[in-house]
Amino acid sequence: MSGEQAYAEIETAFRAGETLAVPKMLSDERRAELRHFWCGRANGELTTALSFEYMLEDLQQLAAPPVLLQLAETAISDEHRHVDWCLRFAQLLGGGEPVSAELGGTRPFVFDGASDADNRLLRTIFGGCFSETVAVQVLLASQRQITLESARRLNRQHVAEEVRHSRLGWGLLGWQGLGPRERSMLAAFVPAMAKLTRQLWLGPQRDADPELHALGYLSRPLIESALEQAFEEVILPGLARNGVGDVASQR
Ligand SMILES: [Fe+2]
Ligand SMILES: [Fe+2]
Repeated sequence: MSGEQAYAEIETAFRAGETLAVPKMLSDERRAELRHFWCGRANGELTTALSFEYMLEDLQQLAAPPVLLQLAETAISDEHRHVDWCLRFAQLLGGGEPVSAELGGTRPFVFDGASDADNRLLRTIFGGCFSETVAVQVLLASQRQITLESARRLNRQHVAEEVRHSRLGWGLLGWQGLGPRERSMLAAFVPAMAKLTRQLWLGPQRDADPELHALGYLSRPLIESALEQAFEEVILPGLARNGVGDVASQR
């Protein structure tokens, strides 16, 4: 199914009675919690859109292959669409009250101790191989819990797009422009990238709540187990296969 078709179906499901009834179905407290979640997620998606703009600039400066530049460009517009949909869910839960997303930062992240050139590589490796790869696992775990059709369709489309975004990092890692020096530099920053990933993903303390999980809510326990699974099964083995450290030394 094309992206356009998937979003048309999400739109139809969002306008259907099942979704429109959600605000009335929840207690005030839970409705506020779920609305707060969607607002926070919209902020995160907007910040991610900006970080892909920085990655695009970085990749241009690195003279990375055009296919990677295209992936970064697509990711920027995908993330803006993620923002819009998170806000639509927030608005529905807030009785139609308009909401907007806020940026969590307005400068490219800088890894301490890395040169400007190395930071250009680190930002895309972090964004793709760490953060977006965790996003895929988290949303897959969420998908198993979601029963609301509009949220399930939206989440499924987001998974497909996050997979594409993660390929930006994995594609860069497979690029022959990265020699042994760059690979050992990246290996030295694996602990810093792992720490940043945990900080970003495990910030909000949200308790597990099956009723809200069914509507697309991401609680801390759900995120934490998916994140650890991503490290164990995808990120560390994937890095090692690409000459970035070995699995055992990166725990
Ligand atoms: Fe996203
Ligand atoms: Fe993404």
